Amino acid sequence: MIRLTTTLAPMIRMATLATVPALAAIALPAHAQDAQGKLKVGLMLPYSGTYAALGTAIENGFRLYVDEQGGKLAGREIAFFKIDDESEPAKGTENVNKLIRRDNVDVLVGSVHSGVAMAMARAARESGTLMIVPNAGADAITGPMCAPNVFRSSFSNWQPAYAMGRVAGEQEKKKKAMTITWKYAAGEEAANGFKEGFEKTGGQVIRQLTLPFPNVEFQALLTEIAAAKPDAVFAFFAGGGAVKFVKDYAAAGLNKSIPLYGPGFLTDGTLEAQGESAQGMLTTLHYADSLNTPRDRAFRLAYAKAYKMQPDVYAVQGYDAAQMLAAGLAAVNGDVGRKAELNAAIEKARIDSPRGPFTLSRAHNPVQDFYLRRVEGNENRMIGVASKALADPGRGCKL
Ligand code: BEZ
Repeated sequence: MIRLTTTLAPMIRMATLATVPALAAIALPAHAQDAQGKLKVGLMLPYSGTYAALGTAIENGFRLYVDEQGGKLAGREIAFFKIDDESEPAKGTENVNKLIRRDNVDVLVGSVHSGVAMAMARAARESGTLMIVPNAGADAITGPMCAPNVFRSSFSNWQPAYAMGRVAGEQEKKKKAMTITWKYAAGEEAANGFKEGFEKTGGQVIRQLTLPFPNVEFQALLTEIAAAKPDAVFAFFAGGGAVKFVKDYAAAGLNKSIPLYGPGFLTDGTLEAQGESAQGMLTTLHYADSLNTPRDRAFRLAYAKAYKMQPDVYAVQGYDAAQMLAAGLAAVNGDVGRKAELNAAIEKARIDSPRGPFTLSRAHNPVQDFYLRRVEGNENRMIGVASKALADPGRGCKL
């Protein structure tokens, strides 16, 4: 675990109090005093392991938006507190409590892994700390676990997978599919979302294969796919695991006879490493490399200038998490103590995202378009809209 802090807030606050009359300091409510200091943002992300690049892209995106606002949101400078969560759910509660109790952060931003994010959401709900999820798609976070102070700037695991299931049946005319994923919430929910969409078109999922996260020994399962000969395979993997899976699938020669589909995580931020093995693959996601809108062009230019690399979906989600926070803070003049107004403002915000504008569902999940993308060279090229303004059903959310 690493903990980095750039805050000088306590020292600044002490210095401020020392120079004002004692009575005035006492008269200020605690949150108004905080409003004069830095806003404490707790970034709980993976900076090691198979999702390390995703965590870095999210932080880059978040920082880019803050920098574009002159380094301040609603007039407040930001102090970042960072924890490497290692995509390790078993450490999730202990890690998030360090940010909430020890560092006293104003807002939690995290994480990538669904299991880690669920531990964070539980702690955020209990403590009332504002939380913005910049990736993890755990359906439960905007389902049964939904909360007034928990928001997502990304997607639910159901969303892109359901969209891909529809495409596989309706456009690609596939009838029999197999799914393959890591065995944890994200993989299982994605596989089920695909099954729901695919079976609505009359298709059938004949087998659902899994292996433990973050295992990348795919050979036995690839042999099982080759023997079963489905019309299509749907896979959920991301980061380093996605690179290895797509390469192994092609090395086994399966890409020649059984098309490989997935939510776009299978090919986002991974194409340079996947090379030839990913060419022509179809995926669905709420972002693509070739949207070619003025908003996205400006974002991509600024990101490339700041970080000397192209952005991916994770960078967009980090950027939009900062935009959501900014929308909430603007409504309360930076005073995070006004929780009900802060939450209400985020809930109502229309986010001008590089992916295209989006609003939030009742359960606080983006209602957004899902693009159909085809891998061409090093790009996930947008070739159509698979599902327009797709809202997660928010099953079990009582807000
Ligand atoms: C998840 O655990 O929810 C997740 C991780 C990486 C990419 C997409 C989803």
